[in-house]
Amino acid sequence: MKDIEQPHLSWDEWDELHDPRPEECEFDAVVASAMSRRGFLGRVLAMGSGAAVMGTGLLNGTSAQAQTGARMAFQPIPIATDFTIHVPEGYSWAPVAKWGDPLFSDAPAFDPVTGVTPAGQARAFGENTDGMELFNVGGRQVIAVNHEYANTSINLPQTNGEVTSVEDVALLQNAQGIAVFEVTETDAGWQIVLDSDLNRRITHTTEMAISGPAAGHDLLKTDADPDGVKVLGTLNNCGAGKTPWGTYLTCEENFNGYFGSTDETFERSDAFARYGIGLQGRYAYEKFDARFDLAQTPNEPNRFGYIVEIDPEDPASTPVKRTALGRFKHENAACVVAPDGRVVVYLGDDERGEFLYKYVSDGVYQPGADTSALLDEGQLYAAKFNDDGRGEWVALTPDATGMDAAEIAIHTRIAASAVGATTMDRPEWVAVNPISVEGYCALTNNRNRAVKPNAGGDDTSVNGPNPRAENNYGQIVRWYPEDDNHAAVDFTWDLYVMAGNPTVHDDAYAGSDNINVGNMFNSPDGMMFDSSGLLWIQTDGDDSNEDGFAGMGNNQMLVGDPVSGEIHRFMTGPKGSEVTGITWSSDRRTAFVGIQHPSAPFPDGDGVLARSTIVAIKRDDNAVFG
Ligand code: FEO
Ligand code: CA
Ligand code: CA
Repeated sequence: MKDIEQPHLSWDEWDELHDPRPEECEFDAVVASAMSRRGFLGRVLAMGSGAAVMGTGLLNGTSAQAQTGARMAFQPIPIATDFTIHVPEGYSWAPVAKWGDPLFSDAPAFDPVTGVTPAGQARAFGENTDGMELFNVGGRQVIAVNHEYANTSINLPQTNGEVTSVEDVALLQNAQGIAVFEVTETDAGWQIVLDSDLNRRITHTTEMAISGPAAGHDLLKTDADPDGVKVLGTLNNCGAGKTPWGTYLTCEENFNGYFGSTDETFERSDAFARYGIGLQGRYAYEKFDARFDLAQTPNEPNRFGYIVEIDPEDPASTPVKRTALGRFKHENAACVVAPDGRVVVYLGDDERGEFLYKYVSDGVYQPGADTSALLDEGQLYAAKFNDDGRGEWVALTPDATGMDAAEIAIHTRIAASAVGATTMDRPEWVAVNPISVEGYCALTNNRNRAVKPNAGGDDTSVNGPNPRAENNYGQIVRWYPEDDNHAAVDFTWDLYVMAGNPTVHDDAYAGSDNINVGNMFNSPDGMMFDSSGLLWIQTDGDDSNEDGFAGMGNNQMLVGDPVSGEIHRFMTGPKGSEVTGITWSSDRRTAFVGIQHPSAPFPDGDGVLARSTIVAIKRDDNAVFG
């Protein structure tokens, strides 16, 4: 199959094109939505001067501006529409790792015209850099990073983007997955440590173990794995996470798009429909690799859609799919330890009208003790937000769902629908503030809000944290766990920001009070707190800079102050790209940031093959930041 006509079609758009949601929105629901939206606007206006909503209040009598001036040590930058990166004055950026850069000396150098070879790609930095974390391994700096998906028109230049052979499939399978590699700072800047004994590539064919409630279930058994405990590869690795014990969590997002059927009469189950698993895969894997052909291996899709734990200190270790954290389009995994030592992992399901989740371990984390069961034995919850600013985490138990533990782990969306979880505007990254007990989730956009139900038929009328119909701008919701305990069932919530365009709209689509002509953006996606409690926000939206998006420019990275609510633009990405993934060096003098699917000529200016790239950003005075 060829996707060259739509080389940068997002997975969200691809899903909608290949598996459109039924048009079932009823007139009553539309009317109710409109009324509800008016109610929300009234509430925002009424509360707009309070610190609890939109963060526009004052802090101890000191102006929010003064607080922020001290905390954000940079001059905000304007939008850009060009093909490079911009950062504030006093900061600089440089590439560290680009698609095709060898991690091992046996990989051929990247060819600017022909790209990579299938075998070389398995030993080189992959395509579409996404979530990442830096690990300090005995003083060595090791980055683990996701390679989310492929762009056939770029990765297969010799076939003009068409997937024509087993070799083409092998190249794409090796271009995705995860890279783990050591970096070091030299006089010439940050560089990959070629042949480091910590370097590793994980691809669509790397052997992994399956653990937790779904391990060994009939739905996970295949001819190649009759016990249902072993699987090859991890698919569509989007955001990431880091456990308190120093392992990397990679998150399988749009796994559905890799499967198809060579038998057009294959009838998919309701569960496959809920997960968007259809007859045609995006990369035609099914034509060349029987594992991805539903007609031959119908249970293979049930083995993807999980959180996978990887030990970056041991390149020989077997990654583990932790099914207790549920199966859905996992965006990222934000870990935090509750006051009693239990491990809490916040998780989003990035699809229109799907849900926000939380996992709480049964056991407690003790540094140095055995952590192997902490992500296998625990309780999964789905979030229910009430319009009154309160909410609760609803436990996905057999009693509540009518499903057993394995079924809940495999068909998590169906379990969350059964308990009436709140349909969300595409949960992207979750981030937890390290200096205040609060969580944030980027709800990137949802043009189906109040238009269509989700894939399970759940109503998606506007609701508290998702207050705008046909929401093309997105918002960030924030919650405060009861008793300052992330393991608690109850919480209160507000919206940290509603993105919007105040130059085009004068209603809710203008955005919240902390959006202005100087900082407007759309589609918040990646999010990470720095050590000082500032929120770094990355965007993956419409960069046309036209109509409703006029004045927003290219995708970008902004910094938000949770206390004052202020948001300042720190970086603009090259045209066509998404800015996604951020982590810091151990000394926090360098931020590593990902540029995914840029347009040529980024970053080399040769105008041939655009290369997804991790860049290093530093202050020119080499001071600590972030
Ligand atoms: Fe891979 Fe939802 O972003
Ligand atoms: Ca994302
Ligand atoms: Ca996105």
